[in-house]
Amino acid sequence: MWRTHTCGELRISDQGKKVILSGWVQRTRDKGSIIWIDLRDRYGVTQIIVEETTCPSEMVQITRSLGREFVIQVTGTVIERLSKNNNIPTGEIEIKPEEISILNGSKTPPFTIEDETDGGDELRMKYRYLDLRRGTVRNSLLLRHNMMQKTRAYLSNADFIEVETPVLIKSTPEGARDFVVPSRMNPGEFYALPQSPQTFKQLLMVSGFDKYFQLVKCFRDEDLRADRQPEFTQIDCEMSFVEQKDILDTFEGLARYLFKEIRGVELPAFPKMTFADAMELYGSDKPDLRFDMQFKNLTSLSQGKGFVVFDQSEVVLGIVVPGMAEYTRKQLDELTEWVKRPQVGAKGMVYVKYNSDGTVKSSVDKFYTEADLTEWKNHAGATDGDLLLILSGKDAEARKAMSELRLRMGESLGLRDKNKFVPLWVVDFPLLEWDEDTQRFHAMHHPFTSPKPEDLAYLTSDPGRARANAYDMVINGVEVGGGSIRIHDRSLQEKMFKALGFTEEEAKAQFGFLMEAFEFGAPPHGGIAFGFDRLCSLMGGADSIRDFIAFPKNNSGRDVMINSPSPLANDQLDELSISVKSKK
Ligand code: AMO
Repeated sequence: MWRTHTCGELRISDQGKKVILSGWVQRTRDKGSIIWIDLRDRYGVTQIIVEETTCPSEMVQITRSLGREFVIQVTGTVIERLSKNNNIPTGEIEIKPEEISILNGSKTPPFTIEDETDGGDELRMKYRYLDLRRGTVRNSLLLRHNMMQKTRAYLSNADFIEVETPVLIKSTPEGARDFVVPSRMNPGEFYALPQSPQTFKQLLMVSGFDKYFQLVKCFRDEDLRADRQPEFTQIDCEMSFVEQKDILDTFEGLARYLFKEIRGVELPAFPKMTFADAMELYGSDKPDLRFDMQFKNLTSLSQGKGFVVFDQSEVVLGIVVPGMAEYTRKQLDELTEWVKRPQVGAKGMVYVKYNSDGTVKSSVDKFYTEADLTEWKNHAGATDGDLLLILSGKDAEARKAMSELRLRMGESLGLRDKNKFVPLWVVDFPLLEWDEDTQRFHAMHHPFTSPKPEDLAYLTSDPGRARANAYDMVINGVEVGGGSIRIHDRSLQEKMFKALGFTEEEAKAQFGFLMEAFEFGAPPHGGIAFGFDRLCSLMGGADSIRDFIAFPKNNSGRDVMINSPSPLANDQLDELSISVKSKK
């Protein structure tokens, strides 16, 4: 028998029991006559006490030879500890061993296996199996596991059934590039890995499955960031005979349930905000509502006073940073440099300090009188002690830059509390987006999204004006999920493809199967998909989804542990009828 108990379960009530434990040596502390071993497994840490005076010398010798991460087995008796550790559940007891055997040795690990480790990112990823021994990472995966179980339970109880859809498919146009897989049996032809099971879940609705879900891997060949992995997991869902409200209610329910079960948090009500309002007030389609700082439009108040920068701008936007009039010149200069970084993209920044003593100081005093600045103050809702930060330029660019500045100010004021969760639905997205490069429209969500009924006519008359029956769930500025009511009518789907610049033949070649299915009694339907990894990291209070993925890829899309991607041998390439151009 390897063990009678785990390293996390023995308590003072077990005193006197003879037990066998197996695990990893977290550390040993040698105080001369006494050596302590911290023995760790998935469940916790139990202390072993080896005393020179009472233990056989052979055991003392073995104990002194133990290195970090050795795997050992300890047979012994549970005794009460002399000095207790209230920080761990096993802190009142220790094991007095009768036998210690080494089950396997270990090289010295390349970084410390502790919650706070000295290992850098790349090193930890190379030895991810060691990284996963650390309590914090293990807990993240535990949270993920719990989320999966709860999600399945909730949806299954609500009559959703989980159906697996294929992984070797044909490209679905979700906006990113596809990962492709060559077909040996069909030379020169390729499968694509799904960016999402979108068309399959719609076909399941045509099949009458009514309520579908799947915890499913999706693959997207896109630029990677903290919240994006090339392979990630969705909670993918679809329902028939529903309107937008039914979907929002159902999945608000799921989010509410998960936050309650996993974090013990009652989410506040999910307000609905239109895409247009989100852009107007926050310059983002995923506003972080944990704090206020709405955009104030100062365009008309600030133009025509001789300040060319504002006069030549499409829009002049301000945010009020509460209580920050005391920002120093140095801090403001730093902020100005920051907004000029290419990632933010502003040309400069104007500030007005409404000091607590009632005086006003701005970076544009030359152009504006105190009365002008007071007018801005009233319009923006500032009070004495506040700082007004202003950016201007082309509408879309100024909004994007201001959105970044708003988030930064929220961060530096400590308003982006990781234990506070503020959700909302963003609705009424534009159906289509004009792409300058290709000179054609793209579907903002995907081509199967239905226009809002009242905007149907625009699809042919003025496509850019049509709004989509689409929605995103946003929590704390993170887009955790998105979906739409779908088109279920062949002729409308054809119109949509036409608006997207597909010829009839192209649409038929790519999506003939779906359009044909619509002719066999397709029910009205709609759905949503959550980014499961994002939901986990939000729940766990982390910035990166990587911590919640057992074996993630780095920002270049590489798995540095197994060293993938990697070249193929020539005969394998030949078999796949692929010739590879040399990199040079
Ligand atoms: P969408 O493309 O909005 O919709 O994706 C749904 C959610 O998936 C998450 N997500 C990602 N998470 C990690 N890494 C990525 N690379 C990544 N890309 C997306 C986001 C996003 O909100 N088929 C539609 C859903 C539908 O219409 O029902 C779809 O995939 O959290």
